[in-house]
Amino acid sequence: MHRSAAPLDREQLAERLLRASARHSHDPLTEIAWDAPIDPYLPAMPPHRCSLYGTALWDRLDPREQAALSTRQFAGLLTWTMWGELMLMQGLIRHVYDEDPATRHAQYALTEIADECRHSIMFARYLTLTGHPTLVGPTARRLGRWLVRTNNVPLLLGITLFVEEFIEAAQREIMRDETLQPLARSVSRIHVIEEARHIGYASAELRSSCRSLGPARRAALAQALALGCTFMVHEAVPPRMYALARLDRRAAHRAATANPHWHRATTTWSRKAVDLFRDLGILDRGSEPLWRRAHLID
Ligand SMILES: [Fe+2]
Ligand SMILES: [Fe+2]
Repeated sequence: MHRSAAPLDREQLAERLLRASARHSHDPLTEIAWDAPIDPYLPAMPPHRCSLYGTALWDRLDPREQAALSTRQFAGLLTWTMWGELMLMQGLIRHVYDEDPATRHAQYALTEIADECRHSIMFARYLTLTGHPTLVGPTARRLGRWLVRTNNVPLLLGITLFVEEFIEAAQREIMRDETLQPLARSVSRIHVIEEARHIGYASAELRSSCRSLGPARRAALAQALALGCTFMVHEAVPPRMYALARLDRRAAHRAATANPHWHRATTTWSRKAVDLFRDLGILDRGSEPLWRRAHLID
């Protein structure tokens, strides 16, 4: 990553984020009741936020099957977020390598890597307990590897920020809903608290790395970001999730793709990232149709 922000601003922000990290850091291994039994009738996500909610397929499931499907979907979101975190950690490590470790900026980047390590372990633990796959598909993994290697800082920051805002919005709803599975709520609460500072850091870095972009590079970034984010969202609810829930994979995927309830969920969870991208001119008229087609904007 390059040094484009005024050093003082960067140091001041990093100082603030380090103080927040000292006050609000959590150890999921000791703070979460991992041994508590999981009630199979409690959904992990609000039903109206499940990709099949309101469809004929959903209505055919009994309450226990609906709860199981919502747990699958939550677990799928965690697999997806962990994939994003692993890309981000690689980007941050490359970034810190070229920074002076005496700066608060570098120290904050190291702190964020430590946060993401704890999150990924927490997610992996949830996935193990619920028996959900811990890896995204091979195409996604290849693309992620390619993306990290490009070292395209604004693109990597934009995609990371999109994932962080999307999962933050989804998990904020989950942690507040007392009717949901306690384990999913605890995982969500810890993640939401710690993601707030990650989002602050990524927004500031993205804003500063966009400042020097000319119109052509900005438009190219807008296209790449739209392609990247729409692909990412597709991976957030992979069709294999339905097969694992013993549903017809193709029929379920088709139903979710046409489901207005699900479109509302993806639009709502994308809103903050979309607003920032518009503000920075990296969601423009050329890329807007891609976002709309993927139901990430109204
Ligand atoms: Fe995280
Ligand atoms: Fe994060």
